[in-house]
Amino acid sequence: MKPDCILNLVRDNIRSLEPYSTARDEYQGTPGILLDANENPFGNGLNRYPSAALRRCLLEKIASFKGFPPEETFLGNGSDECIDLCYRVFCRPGVDNALMIAPSYGMYRVLADINGVESRSIPLGTGFSLPVEEILARCDRHSRLLFLCSPNNPTGNTLSFSGILRLLEEFPGMVVVDEAYADFSTQPGLASLVPRYPNLIVLQTLSKAFGMAGLRIGIARADRSVVTLFDRVRYPYNIGTDTLKLALETLDPERSAREIAVIRSERDRLATALSETRCILAVFPSDANFLLVRTQDPKALYRHLLTRGIIVRDRSSTPGCEGTLRLSVGTPEENDRLIRTITEYDNV
Ligand SMILES: Cc1ncc(COP(=O)(O)O)c(C=O)c1O
Repeated sequence: MKPDCILNLVRDNIRSLEPYSTARDEYQGTPGILLDANENPFGNGLNRYPSAALRRCLLEKIASFKGFPPEETFLGNGSDECIDLCYRVFCRPGVDNALMIAPSYGMYRVLADINGVESRSIPLGTGFSLPVEEILARCDRHSRLLFLCSPNNPTGNTLSFSGILRLLEEFPGMVVVDEAYADFSTQPGLASLVPRYPNLIVLQTLSKAFGMAGLRIGIARADRSVVTLFDRVRYPYNIGTDTLKLALETLDPERSAREIAVIRSERDRLATALSETRCILAVFPSDANFLLVRTQDPKALYRHLLTRGIIVRDRSSTPGCEGTLRLSVGTPEENDRLIRTITEYDNV
């Protein structure tokens, strides 16, 4: 798909949108007296709306360590905002549809519902594999978005690279690849394919490997035409001043790399220990920072853990995940306690 074809997928009202602009965005020099935005003039560090320069500074820092061109990089209020923007930019309520693999991250469907867009769930194949043929069979001329999550939440596996390439070639709309967990995988992500596939949007986040879930910073790498559209549609100040400052201070790729190494080795240790317990029937291979495990009685194990202060995610009522719990990888001490508590359940 050529970049100019992307515009044909955009909703008419968004294509012709006159975005909100602030006087401060229009003024390039050093500000003297700020009397344009009806703020409280008495300084307390937070009395001003977030500065575009500070936002730009964070965007450039993130783009630089990720190796993304800044003009192909967008910052959202969490990647959840980026998912919402995909719907708001590309899908006409009541007309267009979005496809998504199932089971996968629940917000793809919730945001489709909120935006009045039909969602079509395509079950994963054997071994949680990417159902390429089924996806292509279920799309039509109103299919504007396809959500793929790789590594997938909650199954933990990376989706087939060749399968995604085929979908990038043949799916008639935008293909959104959510790489929230890709930093935990040894397999390369897809962001470098954006120049070749303008219909590709890759989502990443500071919430997982970078340890800033409390800040709410999501990242999209996409064709510059898509980034421009996202910037026109987002709220003018979608990321607050303190969030921008804290993210700039906290972002430390070297520290994150050390933490990622520990999380990966703990994930593998946890997988081995859990597969040796009697109550866990299967530990699914994971490229993420969690493990999906199948157990005889997920509700009973869930309650056993809960009453001992360990909260995990019961996924047993999700189609395709029957009998499963999803366990996030904790610190080494937390993982020791999880293993001890599950072993104790084995012996009751
Ligand atoms: C696959 C996936 N994408 C996105 C998110 C949300 O990320 P963010 O915190 O950046 O909104 C999550 C959160 O659990 C997730 O699992």
